[in-house]
Amino acid sequence: MEIINRRQRMTSVARKLKREQDQTIGLVPTMGALHDGHLSLVREARRMCDIVIVSIFVNPTQFGPAEDFQSYPRDLTKDTATLADYNVDYIFAPSPEEIYAKNFSTYVTVEGISDQLEGAARPGHFRGVATVVTILLNVVRPDFAFFGQKDAQQTLVIKRLARDLAIDTEIVVLPTLREKSGLALSSRNVYLNEAERHAATILYRGLARAEAAYEKGERTASHLVEIVRTVIEAEPLVRLEYVSAADADTLEKLDKLDNRTVLVSLAARFGKTRLIDNIVLNPARQKTQSAVDG
Ligand code: PAJ
Repeated sequence: MEIINRRQRMTSVARKLKREQDQTIGLVPTMGALHDGHLSLVREARRMCDIVIVSIFVNPTQFGPAEDFQSYPRDLTKDTATLADYNVDYIFAPSPEEIYAKNFSTYVTVEGISDQLEGAARPGHFRGVATVVTILLNVVRPDFAFFGQKDAQQTLVIKRLARDLAIDTEIVVLPTLREKSGLALSSRNVYLNEAERHAATILYRGLARAEAAYEKGERTASHLVEIVRTVIEAEPLVRLEYVSAADADTLEKLDKLDNRTVLVSLAARFGKTRLIDNIVLNPARQKTQSAVDG
């Protein structure tokens, strides 16, 4: 495993692997502080691709001025040891100056799907994400790039930019990895104290309750949102920011869900820590399940 800091070197290594050795390349973009959620992406990349590259870059442009850029957990030594165990071929770990050179002035804005939910709560966030992901995809030019459903809106933004800008990389989205308690793994979980960590399990319980109602035939978005809210607001340590039920592909607000695939997503605070989570409700999957159930 080699750690690469310079983007020129990363580009030339990747180009050589593809052109001269005909290897398929998988890229897993991360901000480090790796946990099993990240590693589930690495495992799938390892399975699908000849060469696996993990990028570790805490991207300043996707953090708002009052957000946790400075305090975001960083541990490159530990991350490197973990990735060596997973047979990763290269770590791309550039400095901010390496990505954002002096006079950097070109940004990628994905209109429409960047505006609501996380985009509304974190102005400029998806512009930062879209810009850095475009740069990473251009530096490596991978055959596949791997992202987690945990950040549902992020996956939509990235799929859209890859399509619109004709980026020759297949975007692979993988399921959210959770603790046994249901809490979605997140680098920000380290900020939670013990009571908050316990309280945070309410988020998935709220989502699961909406899923159960959906399975019983509930098809009104506002009812599902209300179910999630009621469950979560029973927890005294939580401050719920939003709960939404929207079209899973376009994020269009819905009330009658009919046969659409629905993203139920939320953001909540526990003390200073802001967490997000979501589930996807899919009528096709429900049908096969009930068919199996008889
Ligand atoms: P980061 O939060 O480090 O996450 C890196 C990748 O891991 C993302 O695709 C994210 O969705 C995925 N991930 C996080 N928690 C997960 C979980 N519990 N289960 C499955 N996948 C999970 O997301 C980012 O970094 C950045 O925005 C980035 C895309 C790297 C751009 O800077």
